[in-house]
Amino acid sequence: MVDIKYHYESTAPDYDQITRVSGYDRVPVRLVSVFQQAVSFTPAMKVLDFGCGTGKLAQAICDTGADVEITGLEPCRAMAVQFDRRFRHHPHVILQRGGYTDHLPLPDQEFDAVLSAGVFDHIKITPRVMKEFMRVIKPGGFLAFTYERHSRLLPKDHIYWGAGATYSHQDSYVKACLEQTGAQVLQHQRMFGYFYYHLARMGLFVAQKPV
Ligand SMILES: C[S@@+](CC[C@H](N)C(=O)[O-])C[C@H]1O[C@@H](n2cnc3c(N)ncnc32)[C@H](O)[C@@H]1O
Repeated sequence: MVDIKYHYESTAPDYDQITRVSGYDRVPVRLVSVFQQAVSFTPAMKVLDFGCGTGKLAQAICDTGADVEITGLEPCRAMAVQFDRRFRHHPHVILQRGGYTDHLPLPDQEFDAVLSAGVFDHIKITPRVMKEFMRVIKPGGFLAFTYERHSRLLPKDHIYWGAGATYSHQDSYVKACLEQTGAQVLQHQRMFGYFYYHLARMGLFVAQKPV
């Protein structure tokens, strides 16, 4: 199995350029825009950017002008270096090294919202994983993330594609995993115009933890 941390270790210096050319840049921007339509950022909101990479999602949040506090969580050293370079002087963006293994290195009910772009492709989504994310969100808080999705004609909840250590999931399965935590799905969208090298596409969910 590919160790995803090492995968990004070598691509980190070129990540921003690769994702610009591939069209991926639209993904974090779209996630932020859908989140804003469904929920909107409020002043001093504590936001976790899970798997923050070089900071494209955090940048998209900052570009809205929202007055929020962002913690970027990132396990890959080389990606974290790029994030730090971008936000070192930003008073409301901090970096924490680490990632999801079978738990998150974060306290209970710490965040008003967890946003994540392009990371759940590297994690096999299960009810247990969703429960762990809900643990770090305050009651009434939000979880918004993108994932790779595959057609319902492929009769599998998830498919492991190997290269790049990516998983794709079926929409109904991801929704069921979220709902098993008690969360309410506020938005589900399918994204077009961006394709990985295999046949999966991107989807996104915005969900709310019960109060
Ligand atoms: C496609 S990049 C996305 C980076 C950033 N979110 C963006 O939108 O540009 C995937 C990121 O997820 C991180 N990642 C992979 N597995 C992870 C895990 N288990 N926990 C946290 N982050 C992880 C990688 O190190 C990498 O920075």
